[in-house]
Formats: sequence, C-alpha cells, structure tokens
Amino acid sequence: MLIRNKDSWELSENEVTSESDYKSRREFIKAAGIVSVGATAGLLNPSLAMATLKTATGPYSGEDIRDELNDYNAITNYNNFYEFGINKDDPAKYSHTLVAKPWSVTVDGHCENPGTYGIEDLIDFNKLEERIYRMRCVEAWSMVIPWNGVPLSEVINKLKPTNRAKYVYFETLVDEKQMPGQRRNVIKWPYREGLRMDEAMHPLAMIAVGIYGEELLNQNGAPLRLVVPWKYGFKGVKSIVKISFVEDEPNTSWMRLAPHEYGFYANVNPEVSHPRWSQAKERRIGDFSRRRTLMFNGYGEQVAHLYSGMDLRKNF
Ligand code: MTE
Repeated sequence: MLIRNKDSWELSENEVTSESDYKSRREFIKAAGIVSVGATAGLLNPSLAMATLKTATGPYSGEDIRDELNDYNAITNYNNFYEFGINKDDPAKYSHTLVAKPWSVTVDGHCENPGTYGIEDLIDFNKLEERIYRMRCVEAWSMVIPWNGVPLSEVINKLKPTNRAKYVYFETLVDEKQMPGQRRNVIKWPYREGLRMDEAMHPLAMIAVGIYGEELLNQNGAPLRLVVPWKYGFKGVKSIVKISFVEDEPNTSWMRLAPHEYGFYANVNPEVSHPRWSQAKERRIGDFSRRRTLMFNGYGEQVAHLYSGMDLRKNF
C-alpha cells in the first residue's frame, strides 16, 4: 500500500468542515445533481470522473476561523467577471455567450515550447486534484471553494521556461460578441495578470478547470483560470487564452487602472489597508458578521518565505 505523507497545508475535508457540514455537503451535492470528483455518473466531463481526489487547504489555527465550504449556488452566482458586467449577478446572467469549447491557449516568450495548445494538451485531465481553498476578494468578502485542477507548476513545466523568464503573464479572451461587457471600457481589455516565477511554481498556485467536481461554469472563468489562494481574488485571471514568459514585471489590469490602489503582489495582508477601506476583516459570503483576515489569507506558513526581506507595505 502506498502511504503518502501529507504536506502541512493539506487537510482532509473532515478537518475543514464539521462532520455534519461534510455530510450535508454530500447531501447538497446529491440534491443539486452534482457528482463529486472520483464518482463516475453525471459529470459533464468524463475526464473529471477519472480524477484522483486530493484535498488541500491552509493551516487551521482553530482560533477564529471556521471554514465551511460555500455552496455551489453562492460560488456560481456571486462573481466578478467584468467582461460580462460589473454587478455580482451579471456573470451568471450574461456569460452564456462565451464558447468555452473548443479552447486554445497561445504560449510565447522565454520558453522552449511556445505555440498554440488545445486545453487538453496543457492540462492532464486524468490527474485533476480537488483543493479546498479560502478565497479572499479585495472587496473584503471571502468564500471557501473546492476547486478541481492541477498545480500551475505542472503546466509551466510542460512549456519549459528558460532562465530569462522572471515572470509569467496571462491574458483573458478578447471578443465583444462572446463577452459583451467588453463594449464598455471599464478595463482596458484584455484582462491581464501575472506572477513572479517562484510564486507561479509554488505548489499552492493552481490552474482550475472545475468546482465541486463539475466543469467550471462560464461565470467562474471557463474553461481554465488561475487560482492563487494567498493573494486577493483579482489575481485569479479567468478564461485564459495567453501565457507569456517575460523578463519584466507585467503591468496588470488593476495596476493600470489604479496603481496607488492595486499593486503587483496583491498578497492578502490585513495590516495594509486599501486606500479606501481596511483589509483587517472580511465577510465570508453566507455569514452575517465579519471575521478577522489572516496574513497571506492563512497560508503564511507555506508562502511567507517567498517575500522575506521585502517591504510588504511598498510591495502591496
Ligand atoms: N478575470 C477576468 N478576466 N475578469 C474579471 O473581471 N475578476 C477578478 C478575478 N478574475 C476578473 C477575473 C476578481 S476581482 C475576482 S474577486 C475573481 O476573479 C472572482 O472569481 P469568482 O467570480 O470565480 O469568485
């Protein structure tokens, strides 16, 4: 029998939720007709059914965190995806125009394997993991989401960046027909994001293709999006069509829009306020009261070393 030692950030689902919550999650999944990863029936994407189940989340201090999974309804109806409008319910209402299949991603810059890839060339659908992550939006709300996907490092390793690559940069699709919100210039399209190479290679950074064992819905960034749980949610670029390996720090969408408000790093930091509001607390969607925000969103033990020696007030 193969026994794998757990990494410090891995907890079983039973540790994340109480046992009754865990059971009711299963009930919920049944009621919604959603089949969890590892089961075979009912999945839109049969490859998800083949996935190996691996659960991960941040350290559980037990202090004032009570992490419960948000339900599928909240995760898929309270969204930020400005390509479909700026209200939280716009993406669910208007994203049906996005055609997520077939999908290709162009890779360029400092790497040995540039080119245009079909999604199945980049993601090994037989090796999808389930990872339960706390997600913290810069607007001071949060959710706990069971993602399905692969470590970003696995995708990057296929592309073989050279040592001139210091950052990885991502772009979302631009197509006004599929993304009608792009007719308004709320953002200079495409939506752009990036990570420093060592952040991108960190095992917690992931490319997600599903939630609750279901393929991503358009409003959540189908068919593939970035998930970086120790950073504010805006780093999680959706519906990715371009990956570039670059030497210089990318000028990302929110930095262009308001450089004094949004920095490149965007690490969750309760001690550094947004110029217009505090980041010390957050409201978990579904909760009435607010809870304390944790440094690096609770993943400090795993990621703090990436920023040692850096002034996090300057590099916000
Ligand atoms: N990606 C694109 N292309 N467009 C967007 O407007 N919004 C970001 C991020 N990715 C956004 C995006 C923000 S602000 C957040 S909080 C998360 O997506 C929200 O992800 P969710 O709707 O799946 O919870």
